[in-house]
Amino acid sequence: AKCVKGCDVALASYYIIPSIQLRNISNFMQSKIVLTNSFDVIMSYNRDVVFDKSGLISYTRINVPFPCECIGGEFLGHVFEYTTKEGDDYDLIANTYYASLTTVELLKKFNSYDPNHIPVKAKINVTVICSCGNSQISKDYGLFVTYPLRSDDTLAKIATKAGLDEGLIQNFNQDANFSIGSGIVFIPGRDQNGHFFPLYSRTGIAKHHHHHH
Ligand SMILES: *[C@@H]1O[C@H](CO)[C@@H](O)[C@H](O)[C@H]1NC(C)=O
Ligand SMILES: *[C@@H]1O[C@H](CO)[C@@H](O)[C@H](O)[C@H]1NC(C)=O
Ligand SMILES: *[C@@H]1O[C@H](CO)[C@@H](O)[C@H](O)[C@H]1NC(C)=O
Repeated sequence: AKCVKGCDVALASYYIIPSIQLRNISNFMQSKIVLTNSFDVIMSYNRDVVFDKSGLISYTRINVPFPCECIGGEFLGHVFEYTTKEGDDYDLIANTYYASLTTVELLKKFNSYDPNHIPVKAKINVTVICSCGNSQISKDYGLFVTYPLRSDDTLAKIATKAGLDEGLIQNFNQDANFSIGSGIVFIPGRDQNGHFFPLYSRTGIAKHHHHHH
């Protein structure tokens, strides 16, 4: 098995375009963490950028919390459920509604519909990958942002914005080229208090806990 268990929370970096409001995001990214039409949880992870429910700033990103699960023993992710409306296709779902957090390939893989004939009001499995950290790289980080790269991203910009060392972020994404303009990388994220969250603390094991045998 490539994974055994996931973690309670990961964050999805959602790039906001003008037609998208918090209402839409809470609908697309609904889970046991983000309930429909409940914006408080999303806002609590974005205190520095979202000040009121109607005040999303276009062309910026917000972090949306979601459960990070071990799917089929194969990979860490979460499957959101999207209900189609007239005119939807996989490209629109992946790259507009889900802000490139998933891909057309993943939609094709996890849905049996003919990509050219997706019914209206159909339930679509929207798979978003996540990370719970890597103890071999650092035990200081246990909350990660699933971050779709865009054309204006660079490692330097991402590191500055995160307040982290470039080398650390690169280590968590060994072969990634952060300037490539597409694809997913994982960046250590901050909790609702604005702090980084250590690996293992969620399980109740303290960071410097000594194991007794
Ligand atoms: C966003 O939500 C509004 C209000 O519910 C809705 O009219 C609009 O179609 C939604 N936008 C998208 C892209 O789904
Ligand atoms: C969505 O995933 C579930 C669980 O794997 C599967 O049973 C269902 O058929 C999938 N939906 C589609 C439309 O393929
Ligand atoms: C990373 O991608 C950019 C944009 O495609 C390219 O210019 C650059 O050479 C790449 N860097 C490496 C190390 O491959």
